[in-house]
Amino acid sequence: MNTVPVTLFDHASRQLGELCDVAGLPPDDGRSLDVLRDLLDAAGRRPLGEPPLWPSDVADDATPVEFSLAFDEGGNRAVRILGETLPERPGPVANIEAAKRFLNRMAQRFDLSMDRFRAVEDLFLSEAPQGKFALWFSVILRPGRPPALKVYFNPQVRGRCAAPGLVEEALRRLGLTDAHDTVARHATLRGEADQLSFFALDLDDGPLSRVKLYISHDSADAATVERAARAVEGADPLAVREFLATVGGGTGPYTGRPLVSSYSFVEAYGGRPGNYSLYLPIRDYVPDDAVARDRVLAHFRRAGLPAGELDRAIRAVTSRPAADGVGLIAHVSLRLGGFGSGATVYLSSEAYAVSPPRRVGAASAAW
Ligand code: TRP
Repeated sequence: MNTVPVTLFDHASRQLGELCDVAGLPPDDGRSLDVLRDLLDAAGRRPLGEPPLWPSDVADDATPVEFSLAFDEGGNRAVRILGETLPERPGPVANIEAAKRFLNRMAQRFDLSMDRFRAVEDLFLSEAPQGKFALWFSVILRPGRPPALKVYFNPQVRGRCAAPGLVEEALRRLGLTDAHDTVARHATLRGEADQLSFFALDLDDGPLSRVKLYISHDSADAATVERAARAVEGADPLAVREFLATVGGGTGPYTGRPLVSSYSFVEAYGGRPGNYSLYLPIRDYVPDDAVARDRVLAHFRRAGLPAGELDRAIRAVTSRPAADGVGLIAHVSLRLGGFGSGATVYLSSEAYAVSPPRRVGAASAAW
């Protein structure tokens, strides 16, 4: 019998279609699937039976794509795809080239604003990139709008020590001089333990087009991220504490994969961040996805978010029983501040592997 092998694109596009359904995104004549196909590039054409093309850090099993479903308190939803574009023959430099080809295609197809990307790319796109990635993308799908694109640079691309200098210069070029100071005073007070981990740009020129800076906090407790949240007017540190109590299981310290903070800056606000987000890599703090799901559900109920949609979203990406693995729910994030509050659930594609449940309890295992 001559069966056509299932590719990564086949697998991920089915998941995306079902997630869009859950989020109430109307079928869009295949436009978002075309974007997914281009985003995945050579990795997408590969049969799932073959090993991953490249050890992408987007997801634990090297799938170069991760989905998320964002809910805001106003009832809006967005489906997002975090992805790494991989060429036929991947490598640190070849991956950057493939990513730029994807970006150029998107710029031709949609109305992207590339000014800010061009203003900082020489800082972050090194000829000898270090670290786990150089350029990632997030495709953001919302009802009635064309796909939006966000790019992520790696501040550690020239080594850990160079990260603060790179970020400071990038913020300066983007007219956000005070931003660096805000971050230094609230989020990077613990030396080596607080690392600048992502630098992201929205590629549109709307008034709320953001520059986002992410900080990873090794072995942090709730107090560290409550302090980070205080940089943002209107972000209630108590909400951070409650989120960690409900979803993370307590005040920490979180000694597995790190808690991550992010700040959103928009030009209109100058150096003051408009939003704070906290990302909890929940998969390191639960025995399995059934427990992860219960905790996220508890947060949704407290926060008045549509709890029923969580199970539908999980079913959109997998048919395996939740208790049979851990990491399907990879992260959960809490968003606070003037540009809208809400929560986002990050769902792994698990195209290549499912991590077995951890039967020792919720210890902080580095898996
Ligand atoms: N897989 C990486 C990690 O867990 C990167 C990543 C993917 C990530 N999605 C994320 C980091 C969401 C923070 C939030 O660290």
